[in-house]
Amino acid sequence: MATETERDVVVIFDTTLRDGEQSAGAGLTTSEKLEVAKQLDRLGVDIIEAGFAASSPGDFEAVQTISREVRRPVIASLARCNTGDIDAAWRAIKEAEHPRIHTFISSSDVQMMHQLRKNPEDVMDMAVASVERAKGYCDDVEFSPMDASRTDPEFLFKLVEAAIAAGATTVNIPDTVGYSIPSEFGRRIAEIFERVPNIDQAVISIHCHNDLGLAAANSLAAVQAGARQIEGCINGLGERAGNAALEEVIMAIATRGDYLGVSTNIDTTQIYRTSRMVSDITGFPVQANKAVVGANAFRHASGIHQDGVLKERTTFEIMDPQSVGWPSNELVLGKLSGRAGLRARLEDLGFDLDQQELNTVFADFKELADRKREVNDADLESLMAGQRRMASEPQNYVLEHVQVSSGNHDVPTATVSLTTIDGEKLTDASTGTGPVDAVYKAINRIVDVPNTLTEYSVNAITEGIDAQGSVTIRIERDGEVYVGRGSDTDIIVASAKAYMHALNRLLAMGDKGRVNEPA
Ligand code: KIV
Ligand code: ZN
Repeated sequence: MATETERDVVVIFDTTLRDGEQSAGAGLTTSEKLEVAKQLDRLGVDIIEAGFAASSPGDFEAVQTISREVRRPVIASLARCNTGDIDAAWRAIKEAEHPRIHTFISSSDVQMMHQLRKNPEDVMDMAVASVERAKGYCDDVEFSPMDASRTDPEFLFKLVEAAIAAGATTVNIPDTVGYSIPSEFGRRIAEIFERVPNIDQAVISIHCHNDLGLAAANSLAAVQAGARQIEGCINGLGERAGNAALEEVIMAIATRGDYLGVSTNIDTTQIYRTSRMVSDITGFPVQANKAVVGANAFRHASGIHQDGVLKERTTFEIMDPQSVGWPSNELVLGKLSGRAGLRARLEDLGFDLDQQELNTVFADFKELADRKREVNDADLESLMAGQRRMASEPQNYVLEHVQVSSGNHDVPTATVSLTTIDGEKLTDASTGTGPVDAVYKAINRIVDVPNTLTEYSVNAITEGIDAQGSVTIRIERDGEVYVGRGSDTDIIVASAKAYMHALNRLLAMGDKGRVNEPA
């Protein structure tokens, strides 16, 4: 059995900002993507796929910004096998310290015939020409035969060999539609090692989707067969049922490295914070029983389990919660807590604040503590998320005041005041079918940006009658979706904040929406 220092390193390729962002309704702004990329850097991922540069001006800008500002990891852009995409990918990543072009093309019969409308010879030529073109720009080139797991194996072996001969340094084997079974997928990877003569000149990667809930298992089976790069997304985001959840494969390797014989370069203590940030920014909540990062992942309900854990943690815990950055204790702050106590607690939660940030969050904290007896970690995380939203995006309109009158015999009526970016205060009022509808209509009268509300949900952040409500909404305009989040002890105010957040995002994105459909 390999000792820890002898273990092979599996490199972690994060595609939260590309495949994850592609998933319905994630639509992130450049500043949000940059923030996630910086956190992925702290997490220690080896490669960040920052986007698909040719897909839209917004994606191009995000990939370029991340390339300029996040210097340690490799920064990749996706590109189809055509000149325009590869040139756009290079323009977006060329200032990165470690740039990578990731080019892909369908290789299964069903996709080549019905989607691409090309024959295998054309696909082979396009793949080779694209890898060669990418190689003309940068040394680090990744090639993916899309739908590899449903590709004729003989054709797959030839394609992989040709891509490596053309200069690909990583060849990725995607289970694009999440069709594989772990033993089968592992065998396919082993066959690639046996049948591709120049296989030693490239890293073999895998990219598994979760349609049958097997993405993490397939990824690990591939690692056992020799793959040394895992692609996935934080919280398992991604197309349809998502990609392999990176926190799951990372912790499987950290926990069972003895069996798998591999390790990663990840700082696992950053996992919890990364998961929270991605959930907040994308508006996709993490289910309570989700492995590693769900609220119940380290909660023991049964008396027997609680008894065991109190006597010896490892009786029922295979991972130490602190190893994934779970906050160490549920210290509660209140209205008598001071700045130093708040700073210490926030630092424990992983937030390093300068004096200005501390002052702003302290003011919000005091306001909350006046309305809520106990302010706990979840409240603090939500305050920090609110602060981040305000700081990271241009605030075309700031919510100043909301007042609502409603009741079982009244027509719900709302008055709203907003301040524009130039400091002008605008007030309007409206009636509605309910108080939230009235608030949204009053805001619409001021902002006047037509859109459709496609999702509205409210959750309590903590327990108790004085809990803050967290509202997540999605609005749609011209086929683009914008997420908004807001929290407050008053859910009408939280709803207004969420709507302003989504509208400010929409206004910030302008015409940078998606132009080309990604893979
Ligand atoms: O799922 C897939 O095949 C992809 C490729 C573009 C790698 O996302
Ligand atoms: Zn994918």
